[in-house]
Order: sequence, then structure tokens, then C-alpha cells
Amino acid sequence: MPYAKRQILVTSALPYANGSIHIGHLVEYIQTDIWVRFQRLRGHTVTYVCGDDAHGTPVMLRARSLNLAPEAFIEKMNHEHLTDFSGFGIAFDQYYSTHSSENAQLCRAVYAKLSAAGHTLWKEVEQFYDPVENIFLPDRFIRGLCPHCRSPDQYGDSCEVCGKHYAPVDLIEPRSAVSGAAPVRKKSRHLFLRLENFRDALEKLLRGGLVDTSIANKLDEWFSDELKDWDISRDAPFFGFEIPGEPGKYFYNWLDAPIGYIASLAHRLGTVAEADEFWANPDLEVHHFIGKDIVYFHALFWPAILMGSGRRLPTRLSVHGHLTVNGEKMSKSRGTFISAQQYLRHLDPQWLRYYFATRLGPSPADLDLSFSDFTARVNSELVGKMANLMSRVAPMLSRLLDGQTGVVTQDALALLDSFRRAGDEMADAYEGRHFAAVTRTACALADQANKFVEDNAPWALVKHDPEAARGVLTAALECSRILAIYLKPIVPGISAKIETCLRTGDLKWSDIEFFMMPTRILPFEHLVSRVDERNIQTMLEENQAVPAAQPPQVSTKAAEGTNAAAPATASMTAPAAANPDFEPLAAICTIDQFATVDLRVGRVLTAEAVVESDKLMRLELDAGPLGKRHILAGIKKAYTPGQLTGRLVIFCANLAPRKMKFGVSEGMVLAAGPGGKDVFILGVDSGANPGDRVH
Ligand code: MSP
Ligand code: ZN
Repeated sequence: MPYAKRQILVTSALPYANGSIHIGHLVEYIQTDIWVRFQRLRGHTVTYVCGDDAHGTPVMLRARSLNLAPEAFIEKMNHEHLTDFSGFGIAFDQYYSTHSSENAQLCRAVYAKLSAAGHTLWKEVEQFYDPVENIFLPDRFIRGLCPHCRSPDQYGDSCEVCGKHYAPVDLIEPRSAVSGAAPVRKKSRHLFLRLENFRDALEKLLRGGLVDTSIANKLDEWFSDELKDWDISRDAPFFGFEIPGEPGKYFYNWLDAPIGYIASLAHRLGTVAEADEFWANPDLEVHHFIGKDIVYFHALFWPAILMGSGRRLPTRLSVHGHLTVNGEKMSKSRGTFISAQQYLRHLDPQWLRYYFATRLGPSPADLDLSFSDFTARVNSELVGKMANLMSRVAPMLSRLLDGQTGVVTQDALALLDSFRRAGDEMADAYEGRHFAAVTRTACALADQANKFVEDNAPWALVKHDPEAARGVLTAALECSRILAIYLKPIVPGISAKIETCLRTGDLKWSDIEFFMMPTRILPFEHLVSRVDERNIQTMLEENQAVPAAQPPQVSTKAAEGTNAAAPATASMTAPAAANPDFEPLAAICTIDQFATVDLRVGRVLTAEAVVESDKLMRLELDAGPLGKRHILAGIKKAYTPGQLTGRLVIFCANLAPRKMKFGVSEGMVLAAGPGGKDVFILGVDSGANPGDRVH
């Protein structure tokens, strides 16, 4: 082999355990996987580790809202994530979790070193606290009016309307997104990492090639001021690791998350000691693939943690940009917030791997998935040029010449030479994550080879000179074989089929140099289909139906008393368009049909805002003889849980239970109004009893 064998540890960022993998995430995991596969193809030793980022308040609250213990919830998500990644061919050596014994052990060891070396301190801080839920609120769980433009319902850290950043305490009329209560300020002791201790080392590191210069330049502004101490603790209740000797205090999940890279390695190798030794090896390269949103954590905090605990630093941060779909941020209402599972139900994962490759370069610029471009690129390049070569030539050889390859024609040597000479350029492009350049070169090569076949017309040649035709087809298959090597990191599924048909065995990069052994090729298996735009349409439409399937945005004006007939009819129209269950009622509702709606009185036992949803409130109703009902209602903006508990409401009792994104809804509460804050639950005569029928 003309190059030295490298030993490389590669990581992708650990996805949060509280949500599903979506196509935005996949930019990162596909990019990393392509790079890893390339290095392996070159004969280097690569260990690729990842895992779930399992700790933190959002995970804790999400588990709670699903009535699961956090451990059970993260276990389920871990399984789901790994299944999703496998569906896209992401080949981790280890997919683990930050909630592991290895990670706990590592965090304790890191903390002991950091504090012994004087890199930590305790300080009192004042934060927002939810007096109903009794938890400190992370910025994202506080909402209120933007202090700059007064837009309602903005997060505690920044405004989605005017884009300004601010502190949560600056929000006007702040509310807890968990309980809806007004948060109070509360003091607490927190543990901090003294980042300033690492200033010189960090500056040197960033200038020394950890990141591209463009990123280093941007990071320069951090150093213009004193580096602020970093808060690395959180108060109970919290799902994470308790800080040794500090009951009720936990490590902040962003402390244990990157340490989780080493923990995942430890699980792969067997023990933490082995991982520490592996990591310490000066010949080991450590490459972290991350999105631009988490550069701060990986270029400042993580190196500080490593240095402060006496560990070696990563070699390189490979930073990518964010995915937009059809030119805009992924959006639930446009149906472009596509989960890995939704994609896999409708489209071929090899297409996305190829398409992302055509859009990926070394810069952290955002990249767009435009579905028309996706269709055009996949159909014209991957199918029309690269797969086309093999799928014309292989069946032709089988049909006309018994599938037996021969000696390539002299005329093809120049062509094959240009295929081989592209190797170094291809390898450089892969190494530098310039995957768009790889696909561009591959397309140009495929064009040449297709032209060669066209010019030599083996289907005609075979009639008077079968051996010459065999030579032409053999040369074309040789081109396919080299293309299969070049594209193997990007579309391993397609390359594998070429390997099988040509009986090449597991191709390596070095196989570019050799000629294919004479062989009788196996029956050709279809390599890859064309994109059918209808499948994309179906996927987007199905996806748009998801938020719509959310519970009844009950409408119409609140009525006094129990005469709910009119409001009830009106209330059906809002969900109808979106929710197939309601369709018949909305479209043409005869009086007979309407009479089948069973309206009952229920008493709200518990009311809880669904944290991840803007609109939803989860209600538990006492329905008298009908038992208890759990209902998801779109009234979060209009009511606080406290205003609802104990109250009588009217609900539709004979709707089929409906599985929604945040759980099963067993009915529909009647309310009315234009929407948002202006939705009013129908009043009920205080003499009514739960379970009473309403006419
Ligand atoms: N849990 C942290 C990472 C901890 S690493 C020690 C986290 N998780 S995440 O699930 O939000 O994101 C995981 C990775 O996916 C990040 O590198 C992030 O940049 C990337 N992406 C998430 N959404 C993305 C897009 N829409 N587009 C491109 N990459 C995106 O951050
Ligand atoms: Zn604003």
C-alpha cells in the first residue's frame, strides 16, 4: 500500500434521546459514515463510536409526559435511533448511551481531576424556578413576550420573530412552559468550570488546525473578553449523574455528553482503562463530526475538560452546516420535518446518501434539500449515468456472450487509464470531505464510459466479431468496477450489488490498480430505481397530516348552560379538514348523523401542558359511569392547568380513540373561539354530574 496505515477514532455528535432522528440529523451521520467508509476502504483502522445523549431536563419531562421512567424511555429511544441509523447504512462500531456505568465512572474521574487542579468553583446563582412543578427551568422552558419586539410566546433565550438574543429574566410576562405558572427567581449553589484557566491553550489549539481557519476566525471573538466560567451543575430533580459528595446536585448534561464519546469507546473495548489508554495513544487521530450549532461546546468546553483532566486533545473538528428543505427551515406545517422513519417508508436510503454527497463540501455552509433537485440528480446522475452503465452492459454480456468476460480491447486502455488516474483526486476529495467533488468526477467518468459503449456498439459488433464485443463489454464492466470502488463510501448498497454480479469480493481502494480477473458474471440484479415524484408527494402529504391529526382545536363561542348543540357542530369543522375521523361530520352532517354524537359531562381530574407542543393540553376526565378518559385538547394557549382542574366540561364520548403524536386521545372536549388564546371551554351547569348526557 502506498500510504501509511492510520489509526483513527471518529465520532458523530450524540443525538438527544428525547426526539426522533430526522433528515437534518442525517446530514451529519451520513457525512460521517461516508468519511469512515472511505478511510476503511483505504485500509486504515477506524473506530466509529456514537450513542444517545440521554440526560437532561427535556428527557426527564418527556419521559414523565409519557408516563415512563426515564431509564425505560431512553432505552426505547436508543433502540429506535439505532434502527433508524441502520436503515441508512450508518456503520457504527458502537452505539451507546451517556447514561451508562462507563460514563458515570469517567465523569467522576474527570471531576476529581478538575477540582483537584483548581479548575472548578462553586457560586450562587439566581434562576427561574417553576413553583408548581418545583423545578428550575432551562431557558427553552420559559416563554413570554420578546423584550425587544414584544412578540408573544417566545423562548427564554431568543426571539424567533426578531432574532434577538436575551436572558430569560428579560422576558416580559414569563411563563413556565411546563406548568404555565409564572416562574419565580430562586437562588442555588452551582459548580463552574474556570474556562479562563485554559485561555492560552485554547487559543493555540484553535489556531493549530483543530478547525478550519474560517471557523477559527469566527471563534476569535470569544477571546476578546474574559472567558466566562461555565456552569456545569444542575439541581434536582434532574435526570443525570449526581455530583459526588453533593446530594441534589447533578452534572449538567453538556458535561457528560462529550465524555460519552470516551464511554462509548470504553464499552466497545471493554473497560474505561482500555479506553483511556486507547485515547492517549499519540498515533491515534481523533475526529469529531459536528454541526455548526455545537462548535462552542466542542472547541471550548470539551478541550478544556480534556486538558483539565489530563487527557489528549482531539485532532480535528469537522463542522457541517444545517439542512434546509426546499429552501426553508424544516417545517411541520409544510410537511418538510421528515423523520428518518417517514423517509424510509417511502424512499430509498441510497438516494439520500447520494444526494447529500452531491451537496456536501468542507465548509460549514447550510445545505438545501430541494426535492425537484433531488429527483433530477438521482435520476440523471446516479441512475442515468452510473447505474446505467452497469445495467446495460452486464445483462448484454450475459445474453450475448454467456456472461464470460475476456481481455479488454486496446481501444479501451486510454479510458481505463483515465479512470485509474482519477483515484488520487478522488481520495483527496474524500479526505477533505469534498464529497460534491467526488460525485462530480464520478459523473464525468461515467459519461466517458457510456460514450465508449455507445461508440463501440457491442450489440452490433457481436454479430461479426464476438471477441471484440466481449473486449468492449469487459472494458465497460471494468469501468463499472472502478466506479463501484469510488462510490462505495457513498452508496455502499449499490456497490455491493456490483461486487456480487462481477464476483469481485469485497473491493478495496487498492483494487483500482488491478484488472478484474476473467470471470463468468452472475445474473445482474437491478441496482437502483428512479425516483418517482409521487412517492415524495405521498411522503410530504402524510407528514403534513401528522400535526393535523392533533386533537380537536375545539371551536365556537362558549355557550352558557348545557345547550351544546350548535357549538358542537361548529367545533367539528376545525379538525375535520385534517383529521379523517371527523371528515363525514364536517362535510355533510345530517341531523341523524349528528344525533349519533354522544356528548357527556366530564370533570377534569388533572390537566397538564404537553411540553413539546404549542397547543396541547393533556386532560384526565372523570366521566362518571363511563370511567376515566384521557384527552388531548388544543387549549394550551388559552388555559393554565390550574384553571381547568376540577372544572366540568362537555366532551364527545363516542369518538374512536386516536393515536396522536403525544399519546392516545380518547375523545374531544368542546370549546369554541377563533383560536390561540381565544378558545373557550363550554360551560356546564354546576348541577351536572360526570357522565351525564348533554342534549
Ligand atoms: N446532544 C447534542 C450533541 C452532544 S455531542 C457530545 C446535540 N444533539 S442534536 O440531536 O440536537 O444534534 C445532533 C447533531 O445533529 C448535531 O451535530 C447537530 O448539529 C446535527 N443536526 C441536528 N439538526 C440538524 C439539521 N437540521 N441540519 C444539519 N445538522 C443538524 O446537539
Ligand atoms: Zn423579538
